[in-house]
Amino acid sequence: MKDSIYDDFIENLRSQSDIVSVISEYVPLKKKGKNYWGCCPFHQEKSPSFSVTPDKGFFYCFGCQTGGNVFNFLMKIENVVFMDAVKLLAQKLNLPLPQREKSAEEVARDKELSKIWRANKMAEEFFYACLTKTSYGKPAREYLLRRGVTAESINTFKIGFAPPAWDKLSSAFLDRGIEPEILLKAGLASERSSGTGIFDRFRNRIIFPIRDLRGRVVGFGGRVLDDSQPKYLNTAETPVFNKRNILFGFDSAYKFIRESGQVIVVEGYMDVVTARNFGIDNVVASLGTAFTADQAKQLMRYTNEFVFAYDSDAAGQMATIRALSIVRNLGASVKILTIPDGKDPDGFITKHGPEAFKKLIAEAAPLLDYQVTQALNGIDYSNLEGKVAVVAKVVPALAEADNAVEVNAHIAQISQSLGIDESAIRSEVSKFLAQSQKDKNVKMGKTIKMVALSKNIDSAVIQAQRHIIRFIWEDDTIIPYIQSQLSLDEIQNDQHREIIKMLFDAYNMKKNIQSFVLSMTMNEAANTELSHILLIDIQHTDVSKQVDDCIKTIRLSYLNHLYEQHRLRADELQRMGDSRFLQELAESQRIKHEISKLHYL
Ligand code: UTP
Ligand code: MN
Repeated sequence: MKDSIYDDFIENLRSQSDIVSVISEYVPLKKKGKNYWGCCPFHQEKSPSFSVTPDKGFFYCFGCQTGGNVFNFLMKIENVVFMDAVKLLAQKLNLPLPQREKSAEEVARDKELSKIWRANKMAEEFFYACLTKTSYGKPAREYLLRRGVTAESINTFKIGFAPPAWDKLSSAFLDRGIEPEILLKAGLASERSSGTGIFDRFRNRIIFPIRDLRGRVVGFGGRVLDDSQPKYLNTAETPVFNKRNILFGFDSAYKFIRESGQVIVVEGYMDVVTARNFGIDNVVASLGTAFTADQAKQLMRYTNEFVFAYDSDAAGQMATIRALSIVRNLGASVKILTIPDGKDPDGFITKHGPEAFKKLIAEAAPLLDYQVTQALNGIDYSNLEGKVAVVAKVVPALAEADNAVEVNAHIAQISQSLGIDESAIRSEVSKFLAQSQKDKNVKMGKTIKMVALSKNIDSAVIQAQRHIIRFIWEDDTIIPYIQSQLSLDEIQNDQHREIIKMLFDAYNMKKNIQSFVLSMTMNEAANTELSHILLIDIQHTDVSKQVDDCIKTIRLSYLNHLYEQHRLRADELQRMGDSRFLQELAESQRIKHEISKLHYL
């Protein structure tokens, strides 16, 4: 627990609020049995699969698997962070927020941040007025017109123009009482190297304001009107702007991303502006070529399907490949859109229209297709060397992919294109997998930590873990027994482990486990999983036997994984001529024995 005044307040707030009436403000609900039902606001549907369970304080959608408590609902629907959802709910219930004393530094920092936001907001208006209302703006207006940027786009994105002068903005803002330090901190001005005073950072450039998810202007990108360099000048890092965690257009696209279940990630400002102008709304730009894990995680709050539509030049393709591995590792589905005529989305849509672009989206290749095509197109495989090079390039991709049907189809395709045996490719894939397992073990040092592959946990185990959680939820007095029987390491699924750990913690701290868990901010996946668990139908025939059966299922699966890993390790050590293979073998035998004992229980 981080902050006890707030925790008490939050718990109080949660217990006083009625989740049904809160959600009803957004979604028409109908009562059926104990639950309420409606059409899910987080995905498009015609028949209701969105449920609200008042006595548990949870909502859950069986269609898109979104769920959580009243705070999670507000966070998602209002697109706010946890503390803001708390404030909103407090407002709805007319409860004053507890006042926590802020330190002098915190107060000063808050003040500085709001001054920076205010200066940015004023700058946005300044640039916008300059573009739309002044004679300075004429060349920029003409430039935008030539590029097909409509008045509506200018208005939507509040595109502006920085006049070709050294201190138009600075002197106007100083006159209006903005401190020079704030202009420097916001990245709107720089210090003169000779003498004193400041000058405008953005001069003679078209200005694209960049906003955070809440719509606050955090920085700017400025484009030259001709061929001079740099083409784009962006706000450097400031207390409110970090290029690595901002996505251009996100603040107005997130609703469309959620609705369409898909995000199109492009490189540049103009790609977003043009796509939006033509009614393609689920688009964000990663601002240049580096796509970060942080950006991916933010987008994954709205969708798991990414379509990368980067420029078709070499830099864009390199960036695509880097972006892919980031997103894949986070577990999202990735497709790659290739623009046929060497352009970026802006150029393509302007030339061929939105329908042609939508067709490209629909035809975007799944990651593995793209990787295989890249390997086959990029290398001359008419000779043996080329064939070896292609295989080396596709093997990691094949090994990482998790759809066996897809992998097999590709192995067949590659084998045919290269004229080599499928089994040769398969054996390279197995070697690669064994090697990466070995690398992992080496990384973990001498004592090999056993981590089970959560991908392979079967559904019976998932089911057993869900039941255990549900039994604990309904009756926390069984916790000591479960703690004595099962260790957290044996739970092979991250979400379940997190939930169970939290339940154990609550119990150990003598808290009411339900309120405790509900008032904590768990990670989103765990939260959703918990709300799902609380809604599944569960039989209570003989709870203590059911609990024992669940424990047995979980333990068996865990031991089987452990056994396999020790076996593999023994094989490896033996091949390397390392005598420690004997210890591994003995350990695997011991585990096997334990498994057979369990079977007879
Ligand atoms: P591009 O060079 O592809 O620009 O860079 P663009 O978006 O197609 O722009 P137009 O159509 O020529 O006007 C893609 C993105 O990379 C970043 C910008 O965010 C740009 O939108 N970039 C590019 C910079 O930050 N600085 C640069 O000098 C160039
Ligand atoms: Mn471009």
